[in-house]
Amino acid sequence: MNEILTETKGSILRVTVNRPAKKNAMTSAMYIALADVLDEAAKDDDIHVVIWDAAGDSFSAGNDVEDFLKNPPGTGESPQARLGNALLNLDKPVIAAVKGAAVGGGTTLLTHCDFVYAGESAKFQLPFVNLGLVPEFGSSWSLPARFGYIRAAELFMLGQSFGAELAAAIGLVTRVVPDAELLATATETAEKLAAKPIGALRASKKLLRGSSREQLEQAIKAETSEFASRVRSAEVKEVLTAFMEKRAPDFTKAKASAQQ
Ligand code: COA
Repeated sequence: MNEILTETKGSILRVTVNRPAKKNAMTSAMYIALADVLDEAAKDDDIHVVIWDAAGDSFSAGNDVEDFLKNPPGTGESPQARLGNALLNLDKPVIAAVKGAAVGGGTTLLTHCDFVYAGESAKFQLPFVNLGLVPEFGSSWSLPARFGYIRAAELFMLGQSFGAELAAAIGLVTRVVPDAELLATATETAEKLAAKPIGALRASKKLLRGSSREQLEQAIKAETSEFASRVRSAEVKEVLTAFMEKRAPDFTKAKASAQQ
């Protein structure tokens, strides 16, 4: 099955993550395929706007847990870094349409989008600490910068899920709409943007994002180094194995194996 689908209508490219049976959890191959699509869109003068949505009832359950164990990202050019760079380098508007679960990368990747429409069913979560991990995609800098340290600390450290209304109130989401109107809302905005002068749109996006680029890149560098060591830790192995075995993690096991 093709897990990254594309459809072009006029100058609007729609990219749909298509792994609904696994809640659109992202494998290494999917990160790379999505990065390739976005890199192509950046180069293609006929594409002015990108809509990013997902098949089924969820936007994304974040990184595929099994793939995390098999292909843990390192400090070099990982599939995750490929996607992060593709988003950083894309100077055309990206509109995300989010419903259901948006966990981990399903939430942090949204910080790289210009418009985020959330269906009423959307449930966001930053579960990195719960998983033994740390934030990624520059979110350790961009989320406190966007809605303040206190709120970011609560969302990152407790790692509880939160709904679309809170996401809109703290500036993670542009607007909340009924699920049934989600794609139509994203498409309407895409059409408005597609009718604008593309040169001005691209230059404006570069200016809007330009002042934060350096801080974002520094945050990504620091996160990548910490993430690469944590994802190989006994704590993380236990959490991810427990998820696959559908049981609660047992950190006494993680401690015992860390001492070996
Ligand atoms: N990686 C791999 N498989 C995943 C997954 C992930 N991140 N998230 C969900 N799945 C799989 C489940 O194992 C299940 O597979 P199965 O049908 O073969 O058993 C299927 O997707 C459906 O998930 P399920 O948990 O039954 O759906 P739900 O509606 O009860 O819950 C979530 C959805 C997203 C809230 C829940 O699956 C979840 O918390 N997933 C893990 C999220 C996570 O920690 N991601 C890592 C972020 S870095």
